[in-house]
Amino acid sequence: MARIPKETVDQIIHLADIVEVVGDFVTLKRKGQNMWACCPFHHEKSPSFSVAPAKGLYKCFGCGKAGGVVQFIMDIEGTSYVEALKHLAKKYGIDIQEEEKTPEEQLVQNEKDSQFIVSNWAKDHYQKLLHETEEGESIGLSYLMQRGLNQTTIKTFELGYSLDQWDDLLKAAQKQGYEAKYLEKTGLTIVREDDPNRRYDRFRGRVMFPIHNVSGRVIGFGARTLKANDKTAKYLNSPESEIYHKSDVLYGLYQARQPIRTEDVCYLVEGYLDVLSLHQGGIKNVVASSGTSLTESQIRLIGRYTDNVTVLYDGDAAGIRASLRGIDMLLEGALNVRVVLFPDGDDPDSYIRKVGDQRFKDYLEKNSQDFISFKTRIVSQEAAHDPVKKAEAIRDVLQSIAKVPDPIKRQVFLQQTSTTFGIDEQVLITEYNKLVKKDSQRAAPGAGSSGSSGAPRSYSSPKPASQPSQTGSSAEEEAEMAMYGATPDDFAAAGGTAGAADEDLEPVPDVLQACEREVLRLLVLYAAQPLTEDMAVAQYLFGQLEETTIQTPIYADLLHLCRQELEEGRWPDVRTFIQHGRADIRSMVSDLATEKYELSPNWSTHQIYVPREIDQLQQACDNAILRLNKVNVQRELSIRLEALRHPMDELALLETLHTIKLLKKMDDELGNMLGTVIPRGAM
Ligand code: CTP
Ligand code: MN
Repeated sequence: MARIPKETVDQIIHLADIVEVVGDFVTLKRKGQNMWACCPFHHEKSPSFSVAPAKGLYKCFGCGKAGGVVQFIMDIEGTSYVEALKHLAKKYGIDIQEEEKTPEEQLVQNEKDSQFIVSNWAKDHYQKLLHETEEGESIGLSYLMQRGLNQTTIKTFELGYSLDQWDDLLKAAQKQGYEAKYLEKTGLTIVREDDPNRRYDRFRGRVMFPIHNVSGRVIGFGARTLKANDKTAKYLNSPESEIYHKSDVLYGLYQARQPIRTEDVCYLVEGYLDVLSLHQGGIKNVVASSGTSLTESQIRLIGRYTDNVTVLYDGDAAGIRASLRGIDMLLEGALNVRVVLFPDGDDPDSYIRKVGDQRFKDYLEKNSQDFISFKTRIVSQEAAHDPVKKAEAIRDVLQSIAKVPDPIKRQVFLQQTSTTFGIDEQVLITEYNKLVKKDSQRAAPGAGSSGSSGAPRSYSSPKPASQPSQTGSSAEEEAEMAMYGATPDDFAAAGGTAGAADEDLEPVPDVLQACEREVLRLLVLYAAQPLTEDMAVAQYLFGQLEETTIQTPIYADLLHLCRQELEEGRWPDVRTFIQHGRADIRSMVSDLATEKYELSPNWSTHQIYVPREIDQLQQACDNAILRLNKVNVQRELSIRLEALRHPMDELALLETLHTIKLLKKMDDELGNMLGTVIPRGAM
């Protein structure tokens, strides 16, 4: 059944470059000898899919898929060996001598191949009708022209036309020898209800928009009616089939793939015409969700090519409100989301035709805003004069922020939100933590797995209230009050403790508290001591702590106070803090300053303590930071190990295992470094 001669096969395999072939589907990054990406075959957040250019192989260490160029195409497209070879031949411009197919060979073709083949044929057929028939030209082509599309765009997107007849496609297909079964399966024809032996064409008298998968194969069609007052829907789409899963497809991605990569941003619009008009206007990095609401796999698809998405909205308020939820999903997909609104009544297609290419591009530039700020503004406007609505609106925004996987970004968004709503950040963080906690409680043990490999999303107050909490109320009540326009001060009463905001969070383990305490002790006692010519202890420690969140509330507060001191041009100093307005700060700092701090069992003689520590500050600081990092890593590790005890799906399991491996490695490395920093017992 050698339909493709052996020499041709060899030629294809020889010419096809694994990096190029795989690179059509994911963005590979070089690391060492190999290239890496997130696996296109399973869902993951950190790359375990690798390509070895020298060997011409790919392998995913997560799901185990592996092979060469041909296998890759077979895996990703679900096609047979022969179809995969043909795909590669086309990509590399290699001619395949099509030999007559024998019946056995036809049998070998798998189901999907047949559906791809008939869809591709139908696309050619519709294209021919558009350009080469009287009806196609006078009705279809002139409609497209009138909508401002030029020949290049029409050809690039392989647009076509279906004749206004019941069986034009059916008859043409039969003449070519295509099996009715595949016309049926791809939805090109429909079986008559009154007579199951008779069929008719699904698409009649419509402009045809072929829908391509990422590698350019036609998998379905969108079809627009040209009749003004037609009783049928404006757009008809192919039904789901073995090759067309609506929720996995973005219209225009095949043409936009490379530009998205180059521009490192993907514009997301709603309609076929929006894609075509923007593409023609020089904005080629554009795709459409085609009327359906965005799905997770569409988001993952975008994520293969870029981390940045800009959503272009039609400007009606109801529509915006409805789609806010869908966009939360983009955030969850770890994408950076921006939004552009168009004037009411315009969609991207009508707007670009109205103002022209350049002004459209300027408009995008000027009017794109970060999604969280956009949402914050919308909901805060709606709730401006209604405190109850305001509280709801804030929760709504916090829900979105919780979806952002990057903790640093979350922090920035919380700050912004606090400004927009005019609410104390501390209060907002309390509310945020409450919400995140509620969510994780609601999730079943198994569902907890999705969060188990991501970053912990709850915050310990990184910023203390500027004055001691004077109320007797709980943190929740405070948050509630603030959202209804009151401040804790309005309800001031005696008593109250610092860190109350976190009283319902998990307790910070003793060992972590001790490590944090040691860092703070060094900071408060030796802030101004120089470590090098131009760096003092304070600067060094703040640098080291950049990516660490101090968990113990009072130490977090103290750290913040130290930062404030530095920002105001003073060194943090014991003498300042023992006069501080907060009793708990005063007493804690005086403890730090006076306690005999034992770093190692050898540390016995009180008299030699002070001179020694000052002499070895660099070592003491490194030691403290490394220990803190190690404890934090171990804590993360135990959270993951605990998560393993609950049922989780296979992918989450793989991810968790991967994270555990990384954490263990970090733990080991930190252990080694600690070994070199403190020669044990030498201090
Ligand atoms: N859509 C659909 N089925 C419908 C209506 C719409 O699949 N019955 C999808 C199409 O992908 C369409 C998109 O939703 O492109 C947006 O619909 P709409 O805003 O109504 O159409 P436009 O794109 O503005 O189309 P046109 O400009 O041709 O009227
Ligand atoms: Mn439109």
